[in-house]
Amino acid sequence: MVRNSLNISNRTVTVFGAYGHTGRFVVAELFRRGWTPILSGRDAGKLNALAGAYPELEVRLASVEDLVSLDRAIAGARAVINCAGPFIDTAVPIIEAALRSGVHYLDVAAEQAVVLAAFERFLRPAREAGVVIGPAMAFYGGLGDLLATAAMGDWIAADEILIGVALDSWKPTQGTRLTGKRNPGQRFTFSNNRLERADPPPRTWNFPAPFGQQDVVGLSLAETITISRHLRAPQIHAYMNLAPIRDIHNPDTPAPAAADESGRSSQIFLMEVIVRKGGTERRAVASGRDIYAITAPIVVEAAHRAVNGLARTSGVVAAGEAFDARDFLRSLAPAHLSFQIQ
Ligand SMILES: NC(=O)c1ccc[n+]([C@@H]2O[C@H](COP(=O)([O-])OP(=O)(O)OC[C@H]3O[C@@H](n4cnc5c(N)ncnc54)[C@H](OP(=O)(O)O)[C@@H]3O)[C@@H](O)[C@H]2O)c1
Repeated sequence: MVRNSLNISNRTVTVFGAYGHTGRFVVAELFRRGWTPILSGRDAGKLNALAGAYPELEVRLASVEDLVSLDRAIAGARAVINCAGPFIDTAVPIIEAALRSGVHYLDVAAEQAVVLAAFERFLRPAREAGVVIGPAMAFYGGLGDLLATAAMGDWIAADEILIGVALDSWKPTQGTRLTGKRNPGQRFTFSNNRLERADPPPRTWNFPAPFGQQDVVGLSLAETITISRHLRAPQIHAYMNLAPIRDIHNPDTPAPAAADESGRSSQIFLMEVIVRKGGTERRAVASGRDIYAITAPIVVEAAHRAVNGLARTSGVVAAGEAFDARDFLRSLAPAHLSFQIQ
């Protein structure tokens, strides 16, 4: 049972890492939807600078090294959204703080090892506490998971689930670069019904327009972990086209820049999920602008659903496991993305 859903007048959510690039999108989205974000993070100067744009919001300085400060940061909130990555450094102490206080926890981690550890370590305590712990409720992780769940539809099992991501470019934030450095080495793919430390071999992928046919390589991120937790398929592989891979490997690629007053960059994304069973294939595809910006409506919608008792279960959850995937995707369209299920 999902607890913490009754006091509907309390619309307070703590955002840890509120002044980061993604954190700012999350604060803006919460504010736009009538929530009251508490601005939290470890740097008083950066927090106060952000608070300049939101004079009515409370600021709570906190650090993952100081558990009392974390408890104070989430006191009275319905949920905490963790936007401070690398999550290898922040996820565990903030999940533990959320469990101590009995509030829901959502994050935007893309890191496979962190998401896997959250499932393995906190599933039972989160169930016992009756809260939703939702790692990777973001472009990487949540979106692929929702698309895969929607594409599966009434299938109980499939032979394979393939996720293809196409970006026209990837201008990485400091947080993305740091996260890559803190999570070196091979990634997990899901082969023969188990997680293996390997990348699937390169291949081509025929994306819908505007990308068309592209060479792709394995870029398994959080969705491989979340999908394998709740959808039955012996093979789950994720791929990305080459232009964004070149961008993130180039130390001179600049950080993302706002292309309009919304703060979104001009980056274009397309994510396609193909599920196959026997000779039959189903697809779900989503497209839009800016992988950092789209993360905000995803994690805020997940928080909304957790807080308002719309999650199917408590515990550590994948997006498509906890929420009605089609309904969730519909809630993001058309303002934040376009999607199609075939
Ligand atoms: N899954 C996805 O699709 C997705 C989407 C967007 C972002 N992300 C992830 O989210 C993370 C943040 O990305 P970003 O673009 O927002 O980067 P960013 O602009 O560099 O912001 C990073 C934020 O994290 C904070 N932070 C980092 N380490 C911390 C620590 N140990 N303790 C407290 N705060 C810490 C930073 O605070 P300081 O300035 O004080 O260091 C800053 O507020 C990255 O891991 C990125 O991969 C994932």
